Amino acid sequence: MRVAVIGLGYVGLTAAVCLSQAGHEVTGVEADPERLARLRELRLPFFEPGLLEGMTGALRSGRLSFAGDVREFGDPLDAAIVAVGSPQLPSGRADLSQVTAALQSLEALPLAPRLVMLKSTVPPGTSRRMLARLGPALARRYVYSPEFLSQGTAVRDWQAPARIVIGTDNKELLGEARELLRGCEAPWVVTTPTNAEMIKYAANAFLATKVSFVNEIANLCDDVGASIDDVVEGLGLDPRIGPAFLKAGVGWGGSCFPKDTRALANVAVGHRRSLPLLEAVITVNNRQPVMLLGAIHGSLQRVAEPLVAVGGLSFKAGTDDTREAPSRTMLPELIAQGYRVVAWDPLVACEVSERVFPGVTRAETFEQAAAGAHLVLVLTDAREIVGADWGAISRQMQAPKLVVDGRNCLDATFLRAVGLNYRAVGRAAS
Ligand SMILES: NC(=O)c1ccc[n+]([C@@H]2O[C@H](COP(=O)([O-])OP(=O)(O)OC[C@H]3O[C@@H](n4cnc5c(N)ncnc54)[C@H](O)[C@@H]3O)[C@@H](O)[C@H]2O)c1
Repeated sequence: MRVAVIGLGYVGLTAAVCLSQAGHEVTGVEADPERLARLRELRLPFFEPGLLEGMTGALRSGRLSFAGDVREFGDPLDAAIVAVGSPQLPSGRADLSQVTAALQSLEALPLAPRLVMLKSTVPPGTSRRMLARLGPALARRYVYSPEFLSQGTAVRDWQAPARIVIGTDNKELLGEARELLRGCEAPWVVTTPTNAEMIKYAANAFLATKVSFVNEIANLCDDVGASIDDVVEGLGLDPRIGPAFLKAGVGWGGSCFPKDTRALANVAVGHRRSLPLLEAVITVNNRQPVMLLGAIHGSLQRVAEPLVAVGGLSFKAGTDDTREAPSRTMLPELIAQGYRVVAWDPLVACEVSERVFPGVTRAETFEQAAAGAHLVLVLTDAREIVGADWGAISRQMQAPKLVVDGRNCLDATFLRAVGLNYRAVGRAAS
C-alpha cells in the first residue's frame, strides 16, 4: 500500500518504519522543519531502541521517504495514519488542534485516501464531533485505532501488540485496515470510534491506578514496618492482579499518563460527573515527589551548602523523554532550596538538560555526579545507576551519605553494608 504517516514523534516514526519494513511504500510527514531536516540527515530526533537501524534500512530500501506536507504527494494514497500530538491545555483538556489540522490536510487532497486511521489519543466522543465537522467523504474512510506502545519498547510493541483496537462505523474498511497492519499479530477488537477512544483512556487510567495504589500501600508499609517488595511479590502472583505496574516509587510521569488522566477527568467534568477514584489516583501521584522532597530537606537541614546528585532525568529508563518527568518538578524545588544540584542521565542530551533544568550542573558519568555529594537522588532505574560501584560512591560521598531511591531499584542491604544511608518507598523494613 502507498501510505502517509502524519506526525513523526515516538508513535508516528515507529509506525512509518515498521510499516515500510512490512512492505508498504511509506512517506512520513513532519510539520516541524528542524525535525524533518534531522530525519533527512539520518538522525533521530529522540532516542528509541532499534528505531535508527530500522529507519536506515527502510530509507535504503527506498520504501521510506520524508515530506513536510501531505499536499506534496503526487499520486493518490491508499492509507493515511495520523499520529500527531494531543497535548494538554492549561485547563487540563486535550489540545486537539494538531489532530484537526492533520485531518483537514487530508480532506484537502484531490483524492481522499482509501483509509484514514487516527492513532493519536483523543477523548471519548472526539471522532464523532470531528467527523460531523469534516464531512462525509472523510467519515466514510475513517478508523480510530488507539496506540498502546510504550517508549523504550516502541518497535517491539508495534510489531507484537497485545491487541489491535479498531473503532469505525464502516465495517467495509476492516479489509484495508488488516492489509495496512499486516505483520502485527494480535487479537482484534472491532467497535465504535467512541468505544475505541474510551478503551485507550480506561487502559491508561487503570495502569496509573495500579501505580498509585501500590504507592499508597508502600507509604503505609513504612508506617507499619512492612516491606513493599514482599507485599508486591505476594500480591502480583495472584493472576487476578498480576505483577505489572506494581512498582512503588516516585510515581508516574511521561507524555501519556499525566495528560490522559487529566483529560479523562476533564471529560467527566464536561458531563457533570465526578470521578473520585481517578482524582485520588492523580493526587497520590502528585504527592510522591513531595514526600521524597520532604525526606531530602529533613536530612540536609544541618548540612552547609548541600550538594545533591541526581541520577536519571527522563520519566523512566530507556527513553530520553523528560515530558512530565518527576525531575521536572523536583529539580527546580531543590535549586529553590539553595542546594547545588549535579545530574546525570544516560540518554537525555546535554543541551536539553541545560534548557530544561537551568542551574543544574551536568556530570559525565553517574559516579562523577555522586562524588562529593551529601545526597544521591535516584529517579530512574537506568542500568548504569543500578549497576554502579556503590562501594566507591560511598567512599566519595559526604555525610549524611543518604541515597534516596525513587525507583526502589537498589539493593538496600548492600548499600547499607557499604556505609550508605538508604531511603526508598515502602522499604523501611527491608
Ligand atoms: N509517546 C507514546 O508513548 C505514546 C503511546 C501511545 C499513544 N500516544 C499518543 O500518540 C500521539 C503521538 O504521540 P507522540 O509521543 O508520538 O507525539 P510527539 O509530540 O512526540 O510527536 C508528534 C509529532 O507530530 C508533528 N506534527 C504535529 N502536527 C503535524 C501536522 N499537521 N503535520 C505533520 N506533522 C505534525 C509534531 O511536529 C511532532 O513531531 C499522542 O496523541 C499521544 O498521546 C503516545
